[in-house]
Amino acid sequence: MQINFAKFEASEEGVLVVGVAENEELSGLAQHLDKKAKGAISKALTTMRFTGGKGQLVEVLSPAGLELDRLLVVGMGGAEGFNGLAAESVGAMATARLLTSGQKEVCFAVEIPKGATIEPDEAAAHLALGCYLRGYRFDNYRTTLKKTEKPSLGKITIGTEDVAGAKKAWKQQEALSSGIFFARDLVTEPPNVLYPAEFARRARKLEELGVEVEILDEKDMGKLGMHSLLGVGLGSERESQMLVMQWKGASDRKAAPVAFVGKGVTFDTGGISLKPGPGMDAMKYDMGGAAAVTGAMVALASRKARANVVGICGLVENMPDGKAQRPGDVVKSMSGQTIEILNTDAEGRLVLADALWYCQQRFKPQFMVDLATLTGAIRVSLGLEIGGMFSNNDQLAERLSAAGKREGEELWRMPMGERFDKLIESPIADMKNIGGQFGGSITAAQFLQRFVNKVAWAHLDIAGTAWTDEARGTTPKGATGFGVRLLNRLVADHYEG
Ligand code: BES
Ligand code: MN
Ligand code: ZN
Repeated sequence: MQINFAKFEASEEGVLVVGVAENEELSGLAQHLDKKAKGAISKALTTMRFTGGKGQLVEVLSPAGLELDRLLVVGMGGAEGFNGLAAESVGAMATARLLTSGQKEVCFAVEIPKGATIEPDEAAAHLALGCYLRGYRFDNYRTTLKKTEKPSLGKITIGTEDVAGAKKAWKQQEALSSGIFFARDLVTEPPNVLYPAEFARRARKLEELGVEVEILDEKDMGKLGMHSLLGVGLGSERESQMLVMQWKGASDRKAAPVAFVGKGVTFDTGGISLKPGPGMDAMKYDMGGAAAVTGAMVALASRKARANVVGICGLVENMPDGKAQRPGDVVKSMSGQTIEILNTDAEGRLVLADALWYCQQRFKPQFMVDLATLTGAIRVSLGLEIGGMFSNNDQLAERLSAAGKREGEELWRMPMGERFDKLIESPIADMKNIGGQFGGSITAAQFLQRFVNKVAWAHLDIAGTAWTDEARGTTPKGATGFGVRLLNRLVADHYEG
């Protein structure tokens, strides 16, 4: 999809999109068109009870008196709250409507509502971002799509009063988009194609962006004593991998980095504690945390972030097999702590235990944030639109919260503490890998915390948000890329010198 910026113009051919803020009048431009159409547009809006509220959209087909194929009038919501995200949703809504409509081009003449504080260049770039993100498709395995099912929309022109500024702002958003798309592609790939070594191979691409990429294989990890992670992969024909990515963008390349750690279970059958059949295919997205970490590295390196950032992904496949680990097994983690495996389906924490430990031992980071599709319980607690956050550090938690709000990837902080930690005590080892029936997301977080020393740390449980069964805002249905924007924003706001 090609994005262009141009001076405002009420193009009277093809497709035009205009915006109206809640309970505001039509802009001068739209009024001009309405006059030419002898009031047909305002009549359509009244008929449809259009008030300019967020999410409203009226499509007028070939309005009389105009050469236009279609005019889209999109509600922008309250003028005061009109920010980058609101601009994105205008772009996203129009794109959703037009993507396979047969139209090839669209022009946006969306004026910033009076009273909004966003700058014109930013508004235009966010509008473009909304179009771009919502226009994402993954058609690699579709060989019989009919012409009418394929995207027709190829060119998007955004009208703005600051063309140069918008182009510059778009460069940043384009870098971010490339990270989000990289993550979505990884998550969408089927699990026969994307197994641990293939994930790692694709991450090698980041070397072209200046990221240093290392891949540890099972032998390397064995030497390091990572038997918590390795135990999960025992039942798989596919070799487990640890992916280590470093972006050194700070003026001092040796300065302590910030670190992101991802759960990368390329498929989670549950192992010997086999999951029920229905819906098991969803477990291809059990590497959503690793995808978000890798996507964030793409975004940061693409925009040459002035920060040192480490990304680590534990990549494994959890399968039942004669060689698979059993409920009852005891394994020793790299930290030296032993773990009684009571449920082989609680595997994500086993992978992260060694990844987190390795990360802090080797890199002495300023902080670690892990992302993981860790528990079904977080979906019960928080639903499917916000992520669960657990942290040992208030400042880091607040920064993550703010970044999430700003980027539309919201987090809700969950409690931790001794009363939960005691639920994972084991009679035979240092801990067990499941708690009891209750507080499942919290006991999972307590488990992870046992592999974090004094470093500031946050755990984001994205089991509810890594995938969506229905299109929402800037996300088509499927892989969301949740986490990429959040991490990129966190770095941009606090860790670039
Ligand atoms: N990958 C799952 C969690 C999950 C569930 C992610 C639904 C996305 C959607 C995780 O490995 C898992 O199986 N967790 C178990 C833990 C339990 C055995 C303690 C769960 O949540 O049921
Ligand atoms: Mn599992
Ligand atoms: Zn899992």
